[in-house]
Amino acid sequence: MYDYDVAVIGAGPGGYVAAIRCAQLGMKTACIDKWVNDKSRSSPGGTCLNAGCIPSKALLDSSHLYESISKEAQDHGLEVTVKNLNLERMHARKDNIIGNFSKGISGLFRKNSVEHLPGTASFVDKNRIAVTDLQGNVNEITARHIIVATGSVPGTISVAGIGTNIIDSEGALALDEVPVDLGIIGAGVIGLELGSVWRRLGANVTLIEAQTDFLPGVDKDVAGNALSIFKSQGLDIILGANILETEDDDDYVTLTYSDGKNEKELEFDKLIVAAGRKPNTGGLAIENAGIETDSRGFIVTDEHCRTSAETVYAIGDVTNGPMLAHRASYDGILVAEAIAGNSRTRNYDHIPWIIYTWPEIAWCGLTEQELIKSGTPYKKGRFPFMANGRAHAMHSIEGFVKLLSSESGEILGLHIIGPNASELINTGVTAMSNHLGYDDIISEIHAHPTLTETLHEAALDIENRAIHI
Ligand code: FAD
Ligand code: NAI
Repeated sequence: MYDYDVAVIGAGPGGYVAAIRCAQLGMKTACIDKWVNDKSRSSPGGTCLNAGCIPSKALLDSSHLYESISKEAQDHGLEVTVKNLNLERMHARKDNIIGNFSKGISGLFRKNSVEHLPGTASFVDKNRIAVTDLQGNVNEITARHIIVATGSVPGTISVAGIGTNIIDSEGALALDEVPVDLGIIGAGVIGLELGSVWRRLGANVTLIEAQTDFLPGVDKDVAGNALSIFKSQGLDIILGANILETEDDDDYVTLTYSDGKNEKELEFDKLIVAAGRKPNTGGLAIENAGIETDSRGFIVTDEHCRTSAETVYAIGDVTNGPMLAHRASYDGILVAEAIAGNSRTRNYDHIPWIIYTWPEIAWCGLTEQELIKSGTPYKKGRFPFMANGRAHAMHSIEGFVKLLSSESGEILGLHIIGPNASELINTGVTAMSNHLGYDDIISEIHAHPTLTETLHEAALDIENRAIHI
């Protein structure tokens, strides 16, 4: 009696993964998404694919290659110079990756018999959605269950409204020339990643951050090391800044801030606002389904991702929790399986966090400061990339691995700043998810020469028996 068993609103990494898993489990599934590309064609993949994870990593890789060729090629015996920076071509490569992946998601929808409905959804009631398609036609559909996966949008701050030269992260991924002076409000994940991109390509980058601590959620050893490395790379990072006003002229932006003692003025060609993101429920009419939100606008869910409306689930960025693509996909699978009768409780304790600067920063589990604060006795091992052969071969020896365990040896936290930290971190995720001990890492054979040997050595260091330090 319903048109669909499940209707998913949003085709980001939460929504499209949930829709595919629902279909795999035999449910008749529709997935509605409003994202269109510059040719006004539907582009499933959400923020992550269209304006987040993938385009930012494409530019990070392009700019890393540019910097490596410009600064390191000589050391490798390669006498090359970059003749010209063709930004248009760099963006075209990025856009091509997005286009191909978006087509890939459409293909996966077809393969799994998920009905993709391009358009904007809004609730009529807890089982009924009005879908306005890309031509403006409105069609109502009904579903036994609805999954809200509408993600998030850039947060705004009153003193820096988006305008000609004040832009958000989406604008910062599409700049058509390298700014001479680039300001970024917020020295968080987006600020550091996009700041790195434009610094490597030649901009003078200044990050203006309200908090006095740099990366307060990150283990202090790692954050401290990162701050000095980023400064040495040329990122100007101002902490404890109270931004008082900005003025967006035709040619440049003026920003005034107080450092607690004095008022200071800075001038930029472009200013990126990267001060956090907020849940996206605009136009969804969630009140028609009786869906509750918290004081910050996130849809309230229980540990099974159920909302206050019994037929409706919500996943990913639109709900409170880590604003990460892999968290959204994890939620999506959990909900699809719950609807199919296999209810599990969500648990983000061992989720990996990554900042894709160079060196990369990655962590999972508890920080040393959290262990101290909770009074948990712990052991610690640390190993620098400076003492790892592969890191030298790669010309990337900054940073270290820090492994934290309980007194009895169970791994409680892994913190890495170094080359390919994003790939190394999953050893920690596997270990912690399976309650392994540091002795399990010690007893494994790690291939030589690899960066993973740093994890082995950090585990050995817990017993003061690391070989190479
Ligand atoms: P989204 O990806 O935001 O998708 C929501 C979808 O819902 C969108 O397509 C939207 O158009 C659609 N939608 C919204 N409302 C409606 C409606 N009413 N009707 C129909 N459709 C609707 N995370 C990582 O894990 N790794 C990274 O490297 C990373 N890099 C990032 C870089 C940047 C610059 C940014 C901005 C974010 C980054 N993130 C990263 C965060 C990541 O993008 C999000 O956590 C992730 O996209 C959330 O997935 P989601 O499915 O919840 O929502
Ligand atoms: P963020 O929370 O990481 O950083 C925002 C920063 O802006 C904070 O340090 C905050 O103190 C600062 N800030 C806020 N208001 C300010 C003000 N008025 N003046 C000065 N500073 C101010 O958020 P960000 O970087 O916008 O990213 C949003 C989300 O996207 C993140 O939470 C993250 O989960 C996700 N993301 C993940 C990535 C990854 O996994 N590699 C990459 C990019 C984004």
